[in-house]
Amino acid sequence: MPPATSHLLSAIVLTSTILPSALGSQVAVKEWTFKGLDIPSIGLGLWNSKDKDATRAVEYAFDAGYSHVDSAAAYGNEDFVGKALQSSDTPSRHKYWVTSKLWNTDHRPGRVAPALKKTLADLSIPYLDLYLMHWPVAFLPDTEPGRTIVDQDTDIVMTWRAMEDLVRANLTRYIGVSNFSPRQLDTILKDCHICPYAHEFETHPYLQQQEFVDWHGEHGIKVIAYSPLANMNPTYKSKYPKLDPIVEDPFWKDMASRKNVTAAQAVLGWGIQRGTVVIPKSVHEKYIFENLASVNVTFSKAEMGEIAAQDKRSRFNNPSKDWGVELFEGLDDGYNRFFVEEL
Ligand SMILES: NC(=O)c1ccc[n+]([C@@H]2O[C@H](COP(=O)([O-])OP(=O)(O)OC[C@H]3O[C@@H](n4cnc5c(N)ncnc54)[C@H](OP(=O)(O)O)[C@@H]3O)[C@@H](O)[C@H]2O)c1
Ligand SMILES: *[C@@H]1O[C@H](CO)[C@@H](O)[C@H](O)[C@H]1NC(C)=O
Ligand SMILES: *[C@@H]1O[C@H](CO)[C@@H](O)[C@H](O)[C@H]1NC(C)=O
Ligand SMILES: *[C@@H]1O[C@H](CO)[C@@H](O)[C@H](O)[C@H]1NC(C)=O
Repeated sequence: MPPATSHLLSAIVLTSTILPSALGSQVAVKEWTFKGLDIPSIGLGLWNSKDKDATRAVEYAFDAGYSHVDSAAAYGNEDFVGKALQSSDTPSRHKYWVTSKLWNTDHRPGRVAPALKKTLADLSIPYLDLYLMHWPVAFLPDTEPGRTIVDQDTDIVMTWRAMEDLVRANLTRYIGVSNFSPRQLDTILKDCHICPYAHEFETHPYLQQQEFVDWHGEHGIKVIAYSPLANMNPTYKSKYPKLDPIVEDPFWKDMASRKNVTAAQAVLGWGIQRGTVVIPKSVHEKYIFENLASVNVTFSKAEMGEIAAQDKRSRFNNPSKDWGVELFEGLDDGYNRFFVEEL
C-alpha cells in the first residue's frame, strides 16, 4: 500500500487533474516521404541493460518476433544495441521501429543534431523512427561527471525547433516528448510546426493516469507507457517499500490465473488493451518471449473496471528533488504547488 499521505493527496488530485488545453491546435505530424511502420504496440526496453546483455536482449527480441526497441543515449549502451542491429540475422531496417532520446545536456539547439548523429552512429542505422526529448529539462553541457546544473537559458521550444529540423533532414521519421507535464505539452503544441507523434511517460496499473492517457488518444498523440511492469525495475525498490512487486500482487496473480497467463503478461496485456504502447525491459530470453505473448491477452469490460479500481497513484520515477526542478505538475504523485510533502 502507498503511504497514507499519498492517499490523501490522491483523493484531492482526483478532482483536479490538469489536462493540456491546446484545444483546436493542430496536432499533425509530418508525413515522411516513405510510409513506414506505425509504432508497434510492444517494444523492448533497454534502460539498465548492460553491454553484451543489451546486445543479446535485442537478438532475443528479434528472434521472438519483436519489431521495436526503446533506446536512449543516456542508457550508455547504444553501441551494444548497434551490434545487434548490424547483425545479418536482423530484419531489414524498414521492418522494425527504433526510438531513441535526446539527453538533457544536449538541449542547446546547436547540440541537437550532433547528439542524434552520435546515436545513429552508435546504433549503426541511417535514421530513427522516433526521437524524443527525454525530459523537459536542460542541463548545462560539460560539467564534471555526476554533477548536473540546470540550464535556465535553454527552453523546451528552442530545443523542439532544432528537433523539427531533424525530421526535415531525414534523420528521424517522427519526434516526440517524454516526461512532460500538461502545461509543458501545451507549450509545445501551441508552437510546433512538426508536432509530437508520441509522449513517453510512466504509466502502469499502479499509476494509471487514465484521463491523461485518454487526452492523448483524443488528440492523436500515441502514449508509450514506460515502466509498464510498475515496480519490477529494481531501481524503484526504495520508493514505496511496502508495495510488493506487481507480479506478486494477489490481485494480479488471481487475474492472471483466471486467464492462464503469467502476471507480467496480464499487466502488459492491460497496457496494450487500453491503447498504450508498452516497452517492457528484460535481459532474459525467457521473459522477453513471455512478455511478447501479452499481445494476445484480453479483458472484459468488467475486468477493465476491476483493474481501474486498483490504481495506487504511485509514481516511481521522479528526479524532481535530485535535479531541483518541478516535474509532473498537476499529475498524480507529481509536483503540485498546493501541497507540501508531508501533509
Ligand atoms: N523515457 C523515460 O524517461 C524512461 C524512464 C524509464 C524507463 N523507460 C523505458 O521503459 C523501459 C521499461 O521500463 P523499466 O525498465 O523501468 O521497467 P519494466 O520494463 O517495467 O521492468 C523491468 C524489470 O522487470 C523484470 N522483468 C521483465 N519481464 C519480466 C517478467 N516477465 N517476469 C518477471 N520480471 C520481469 C526485468 O528483469 P530482467 O531484466 O532481470 O529480466 C527488469 O528488472 C526502459 O527499459 C526504458 O526503455 C523510459
Ligand atoms: C529527404 O528525403 C527525400 C526523399 O528521399 C528527398 O527528396 C529530400 O531531398 C531529403 N532531404 C534531405 C535534406 O536530404
Ligand atoms: C495454460 O497455458 C499453458 C502454457 O501456455 C498451456 O500449455 C496449457 O495448455 C494452458 N491450459 C489451459 C487450460 O488453457
Ligand atoms: C497470438 O495468438 C495468435 C493466434 O492464436 C498466434 O498465432 C500468435 O503466435 C500469438 N502471438 C504470440 C506472441 O504468442
